[in-house]
Amino acid sequence: MGERFIGMFRQPMAVALLLIAVLVVLAGAGWAVYQTQVPPPQPIEFKHNLHVGLGVQCLYCHPGAWRGQSAGLPTQSKCWGCHQQIARESSELDKLAAYVEKGEPIPWVPVAIMPDFVYFSHRPHIGAGLNCETCHGDMSKVTVARNPQVMNMGWCMDCHRERSQGDPERLAKLLDCQTCHK
Ligand code: HEC
Ligand code: HEC
Ligand code: HEC
Ligand code: HEC
Ligand code: HEC
Repeated sequence: MGERFIGMFRQPMAVALLLIAVLVVLAGAGWAVYQTQVPPPQPIEFKHNLHVGLGVQCLYCHPGAWRGQSAGLPTQSKCWGCHQQIARESSELDKLAAYVEKGEPIPWVPVAIMPDFVYFSHRPHIGAGLNCETCHGDMSKVTVARNPQVMNMGWCMDCHRERSQGDPERLAKLLDCQTCHK
């Protein structure tokens, strides 16, 4: 059995097929990693760098990130507060005007999102003095939002371990399954 298996690899065709299979798996894994870093297309091409550069605060558009559980994405009326006063030719702003006219919310596509079985809240993190950049990268430099890192369980755990600073009680609390899986 073992010999037959090894014998198979003496055949150039079998070796070629095996190589192809390995390459396909590697390419798939590479693509999966790439996918998590590529920003999804958004209904309106909203530029963070431009708006943050104008001095608009993060919390003006994402008020829940301070005291709430989820940060929230701005509704069309928040955009319209400024844009009804800025007359300017732009196909992207025409799209905004169309949402306002129809009274439809803009279907923003989230890039940082947890599965339903994970409990995450911004409140304790902002309370502990972390800033937006730590987790989301410098949004004043990007055009469209993209996730700067893979937000998996290891990522949460690593920081929780680091932040408990050797306090065993805090460490136990921050690594407890119930803390993130209610
Ligand atoms: C505090 C006021 C303010 C708010 C709120 C605001 N904008 Fe803007 N926006 C501006 C200004 C100012 C410009 C620059 C206009 C210019 O260059 O003439 C701009 C430019 C733009 C542009 C054109 C960018 C380009 O390609 O030149 C788009 C699209 C846009 N905003 C979409 C939005 C959307 C969507 C929202 C809501 C999520 C929003 N804005 C909220 C002030 C605002
Ligand atoms: C004028 C409104 C506005 C301001 C100011 C603004 N944002 Fe946003 N933000 C948006 C909109 C609209 C989206 C959804 C579209 C997108 O993802 O590009 C978004 C998306 C995001 C996302 C991606 C969330 C997700 O899962 O889709 C993050 C993270 C974010 N913003 C952080 C910030 C930070 C940090 C600041 C301050 C430095 C900031 N934003 C300032 C309007 C704003
Ligand atoms: C400790 C890391 C961390 C910090 C600090 C942080 N965020 Fe988040 N943020 C996340 C995670 C994780 C999610 C995904 C949450 C989910 O899907 O439940 C998220 C989601 C978001 C979203 C998507 C919309 C939503 O309601 O879920 C926006 C916008 C956002 N954060 C903005 C901000 C802003 C603005 C700040 C700073 C005031 C900030 N975040 C600070 C980790 C962080
Ligand atoms: C960059 C560091 C960092 C990252 C990343 C991070 N956290 Fe935290 N987390 C903290 C800190 C600091 C606290 C506050 C600890 C304290 O008050 O003792 C905290 C507290 C919490 C709490 C409240 C715990 C309590 O006291 O009840 C929850 C829930 C939580 N984090 C979930 C998550 C989840 C889920 C993720 C990943 C999606 C995550 N965190 C990622 C640093 C982080
Ligand atoms: C600090 C937050 C945090 C803690 C503590 C935590 N988890 Fe998670 N867990 C997550 C996040 C975020 C995900 C979703 C992302 C991922 O799959 O990595 C997750 C995913 C999972 C999954 C699904 C994995 C998958 O591949 O779909 C299981 C099972 C799980 N956790 C079990 C546990 C158990 C058991 C514990 C306690 C030993 C625990 N978790 C503690 C944050 C946490």
